[in-house]
Amino acid sequence: MFHFSPVVFCVAASFIRCASTMSGMMKAVTFEPGGPENLRIGSVAIPQLREKEVLLKVYATAINRADMLQRKGLYPPPTGESDILGLEAVGIVDRLGPGCVKSWKPGDKVMALLPGGGNAEYVASREELLMPLPSNMKFIEAAAIPEVWLTAFQLLFIVGKVKKGDTVLIHAGGSGVGTAAVQLCRQFGARALVVAGSQEKIDFAKSLGAEEGFNYKEAEFEPKVLAQTEGKGVDLILDCVGGSFFDQNINSIATEGTWVIYGLMGGYTVNSGDHLAKILRKRITIVGSTLRARSIQYKESLVEEFSQRALPHFSNGEFRPIIDTTLTLDSIQEAHQLMESNKTTGKIVLQVRDEAAKEEL
Ligand SMILES: NC(=O)c1ccc[n+]([C@@H]2O[C@H](COP(=O)([O-])OP(=O)(O)OC[C@H]3O[C@@H](n4cnc5c(N)ncnc54)[C@H](OP(=O)(O)O)[C@@H]3O)[C@@H](O)[C@H]2O)c1
Repeated sequence: MFHFSPVVFCVAASFIRCASTMSGMMKAVTFEPGGPENLRIGSVAIPQLREKEVLLKVYATAINRADMLQRKGLYPPPTGESDILGLEAVGIVDRLGPGCVKSWKPGDKVMALLPGGGNAEYVASREELLMPLPSNMKFIEAAAIPEVWLTAFQLLFIVGKVKKGDTVLIHAGGSGVGTAAVQLCRQFGARALVVAGSQEKIDFAKSLGAEEGFNYKEAEFEPKVLAQTEGKGVDLILDCVGGSFFDQNINSIATEGTWVIYGLMGGYTVNSGDHLAKILRKRITIVGSTLRARSIQYKESLVEEFSQRALPHFSNGEFRPIIDTTLTLDSIQEAHQLMESNKTTGKIVLQVRDEAAKEEL
């Protein structure tokens, strides 16, 4: 009977491990501007590492609304960044680039917030934008964390400056960002009210800690928000809808409330009306917010604060990544179609490698 010696086995395993990197090529999502049918799985070069970048062997990634816009040719990546889709990825540190000073080392399991490039077998990430995988979490679960949780954390605590006891109106309460924001509010001690397009999404948000929810497809949410707040209105609005909800938002916010606009799914323009008078009289603070285009320094401090204040709550089960559907990277067209159907609750995650097979890769 033939036996592999441990040495032969190790050499064989590392040969297999290196085969892909030796070829210098990897699978990645490519596209011509247009609909989901224009998405392809192409063979492209594995990224070259720049100063302070880490090469990540990707096990799972996810899709975001920004990918839909980029695919349509409406949202190019920041200058100098990868034009491959994907704002987040999780996997194993493969190697470190020049000038890395953080303590990451090959083999570490990490999550990355990316300006692009995540929908691929390998991605280069700035070392400052990596976070450790929460203990006992699978890669496909962790892939639902970086973009929407960092966004929700930023909107609530950094941009919106939420205070304990505040009432927060969260639009798209069943979305990736919305389901994260509801959990953050519950844990922090703020009241979350959600707006969503179905009773199922509202019930789900309530199961995560929302106090009440309103179906915008059935009735105007404004009178219900006022009833829920004894006529006062909410202290903070997280608004990813924009135009179509503008009138109702302005009437739903409390005097001296803060209104964070971070998406425009309901349109870029506002009806004419006495909006400025209402903003003036109520002393409303309206602030816009993005994440992808912000500086490395800003994102680094966001990642640090999130890692200290929020990440531990994943390990103890208080927070959970919400996943609607998991597909493989090859199903990228289906993933985009699903997101555009507006039927999902939480994230659409893409498996890139089989986690169970990681030792052999
Ligand atoms: N600025 C930033 O830093 C930043 C970062 C990340 C994400 N975002 C934005 O955050 C938003 C949510 O992203 P996500 O990935 O969490 O989305 P998602 O999980 O795909 O959920 C979006 C949901 O929004 C609802 N929706 C769609 N169009 C709407 C409309 N016209 N009016 C009201 N509701 C509508 C739909 O649910 P129902 O209609 O069934 O409720 C849809 O399922 C997007 O606008 C995205 O661009 C911004």
